Amino acid sequence: MNILVTGGAGFIGANFVYYELKNHPEDRIVCLDKLTYAGNLQTLEEAMKNDNFRFVKGDIADRDCVFRLFEEEKFDIVVNFAAESHVDRSVENPEIFLKTNILGTQTLMDACRKYGIKRYHQVSTDEVYGDLPLDRPDLFFTEETPIHTSSPYSASKASADLLVLAYARTFKLPVSITRCSNNYGPYHFPEKLIPLMISRALADESLPVYGKGENVRDWLYVEDHCSAIDLVIRKGREGEVYNIGGHNERTNLEVVKTILKLLSKPESLITYVTDRPGHDMRYAIDPTKIHTELGWLPETTFDKGIEQTIKWYLDNEDWWKNILEGDYQNYYERMYKNR
Ligand code: NAD
Ligand code: TYD
Repeated sequence: MNILVTGGAGFIGANFVYYELKNHPEDRIVCLDKLTYAGNLQTLEEAMKNDNFRFVKGDIADRDCVFRLFEEEKFDIVVNFAAESHVDRSVENPEIFLKTNILGTQTLMDACRKYGIKRYHQVSTDEVYGDLPLDRPDLFFTEETPIHTSSPYSASKASADLLVLAYARTFKLPVSITRCSNNYGPYHFPEKLIPLMISRALADESLPVYGKGENVRDWLYVEDHCSAIDLVIRKGREGEVYNIGGHNERTNLEVVKTILKLLSKPESLITYVTDRPGHDMRYAIDPTKIHTELGWLPETTFDKGIEQTIKWYLDNEDWWKNILEGDYQNYYERMYKNR
C-alpha cells in the first residue's frame, strides 16, 4: 500500500513513520510536511535511508502542491497528522490554526475525492470534548460526548472533525477519526509540558507550572498511539470515531515532580506562573470502543514510559539542544517573560 503521512516531521507523525516502516515493510510511506518550527528533518534522517520512504516539503493547504502529489503517487491511505498543535500558540495567534487545521484538512479531502482513496484518516484530539471537572473522577470522554471546545486550537481541530464527517456523509468519502489523549515520548518538541520540564530541569532552570498545577492530563506513550492508528486505518470501520487513551491520569504537578525525582533535581525548581487563559481542567478518555472492537490495548504504563522518555532525552541531547538554540529562544522569552 502507498500511504501518505502528513506532518511526519513532527512528534507523533515521525513516530508513526518509524512504526509503519518497522511493522509494515511491504508498504511505502510518503511524508508531506511544511517544516514549520515544529517540523524537523533531523528526526527523519534514519527513515530517509529506507527505499520505501519519500519526503516531500509542502503545505497541506496548498492545493497545487497537494493535487500534484496525489496525481503522482496514487495513494491508498492518507493519515493526516499535519497541524498547528500548541494551545498557547493558538491563544497568541489563532489564524494559522484555522488555515492549516481546517483548510488544510479540506484540501487533503478534496484531493482524496478527486483521485480516489481507500481511507482518509484524521488524527484528532480529546481536546475537542472540552474538559471534565476535577471533582467528578467517574466521568470520561466517550465518542458520544458532545464537542465543546475551549481554545482556538481545540476549536480548529473540532471544526476539522466536523468537516471530515460531513465529507463522509455528503461525498461518501471513506474516513475515520481517532481522538487521542496527551502523548509523550521521543521527538516531542520542547514547548510541551514533559519535554519542556525535562530540558529545563537538566539545565537547572525554573520549571513554569501554570496556576496551581492541579490540572489533569491523561498521558499515553506515543508508540501506543501509533499502534492504535495503525489498527484503525487497516481494520477500523469506515465513518467511525475511535477514542484512544490508557487511563494514565496525572496532575501536572505530579508529572513535574516525577521528572524531578527521576533526574535527582530539587523541587525548588518549580515556579508557579500565571495560568493559561481558558485552561482545561481535566481530560480523561474512555477507550472501551477501540478495545472491544479492535482489541487495542496500550503496552506502556506511565511509570515505564516516563523513564524511557527521560532516557531518550538524555541520550539525544543534540536533537533538542539544536532546537533550544534556534528560534525557540525568542518563543520562550515571549511566552514566559511577564508571567
Ligand atoms: P507537532 O506540532 O509536533 O507536529 C506537527 C507537524 O505538522 C510538524 O512537522 C509541522 O511541520 C507539520 N505542519 C504544520 N503545518 C503544516 C502544514 N500546513 N502543511 C504540512 N505540514 C504542516 O504535532 P504533534 O504533537 O505531532 O501532533 C500531531 C497531530 O496529532 C496533530 O494533528 C495534533 O492535533 C494531534 N494530537 C496531538 C496530541 C499530542 O499530545 N501531541 C494528542 C492528540 C492528538
Ligand atoms: P501541553 O503540553 O501544552 O498540552 P495540552 O495543553 O495540549 O494538554 O500542556 C499540558 C499541561 O501542562 C496543561 O495543563 C498546561 C500545563 N503546562 C504548564 O503548567 N506549564 C508549561 O510550561 C506548559 C507548556 C504546560
